[in-house]
Parts: sequence; C-alpha cells; structure tokens
Amino acid sequence: MDSTHRLVPLFTSQQIASRISELAAEIKRDYHDRCPLMLGVLKGSFVFLADLVRQLDFPVELDFIRVASYGAGQETSGRVKLLSEPVAAVEGRHVLLVEDIVDSGITTDFINGWLKAKGTASVKLCALLDKPSRRRREVGVDYRGFVVPDRFVVGYGLDMDEKYRNLPGISVLNGE
Ligand code: IMP
Ligand code: MG
Repeated sequence: MDSTHRLVPLFTSQQIASRISELAAEIKRDYHDRCPLMLGVLKGSFVFLADLVRQLDFPVELDFIRVASYGAGQETSGRVKLLSEPVAAVEGRHVLLVEDIVDSGITTDFINGWLKAKGTASVKLCALLDKPSRRRREVGVDYRGFVVPDRFVVGYGLDMDEKYRNLPGISVLNGE
C-alpha cells in the first residue's frame, strides 16, 4: 500500500459483522412484509450491502445508484452528479438507501430529492458510518452502524483516491 499513509485500525471485520447483524434485525422488524428496494450507493457501499443483504431472511430487491461528489481529495466538492440511475422502477416502492458513510450529507440529500421526485412510497437511509460533526445538510439516518469522529476513514468499501476499498476492516488514514 501507499507508504506515505499510515492506517490506524478503527473497526475490525468481526466488529462490523456483529453490528450488521443488529442492523439486519432492525431492518427485518420494519420491512419483513414490504419487499424493500435496497438501493446501494456506488461505489462505497458495495461491501456493506453485500454483507447486509445476506443477513436478511425475507424478500428484498436490490439495485444501485451511482453518484459522484468527491474529486480526488478528501473534501466534498459540494456538487453531486448522478452517474447512473437504478434500472428498477422506484415509483411506488419502499426504498432503503444503503450508504457507506454520511459526511456532509450533501450526497444523501441529493439522492433523497431525486427519489422523492420519482414518487417513491417511502425512503429511509441505512448508513454503516455517520460523521455527524461534518453535516451541512439535515439528513436523518434511520439505521446507523457506527458514529465516527471527524477523521478520514478507509477500508470495507471506502476509498481514498480509489485505494483501500478492499481492506476487510475500517481504518483511519493518517498523514499525507
Ligand atoms: P457527503 O456527501 O459529504 O455526505 O459524502 C458522501 C460520500 O463521501 C460518501 O459516500 C463517501 O464516498 C465519501 N466520504 C465521506 N467521508 C469519507 C471518509 O472518511 N472516507 C472515505 N470516503 C468518504
Ligand atoms: Mg469516495
């Protein structure tokens, strides 16, 4: 890996797995009879979504939405671009948005607006990580894995310049 960065472990894959079982129980309680459309926000949520859905033992459907807000840096550009819409029709569906992390909230706010304009029956948010100290838009996180401090984290799907997504746990990235 890049020798100029130091990775400080924050959550192990075991800690993440056990938290996901708890989230799955909450989601089951609310959605077991509603066949939600689970909408993963690419690319960061792909690992989380894969682990989460395998803990759900009731009917769900899956799709993806792809957006970009970050350039190569660690700060949001403040602008969100829709790179690819879901293939599934979202009209009338109970949509559960699945995010890796909510930071400023700008991405989530944009997707919420897009979904509501499409006439969804409901939209809720499941985020593995929440960095509330950085919020610039009011965003309600309905199912939250962990609250994280105002540090840049990588691993378990989260990247820095497309690196580190493959790490099994989550670490804080230190140094430049
Ligand atoms: P927001 O629009 O500022 O809430 O940022 C949302 C997106 O920024 C997330 O889906 C991530 O892809 C990325 N992001 C925010 N914070 C981090 C971080 O600490 N590590 C890696 N990616 C992050
Ligand atoms: Mg990213």
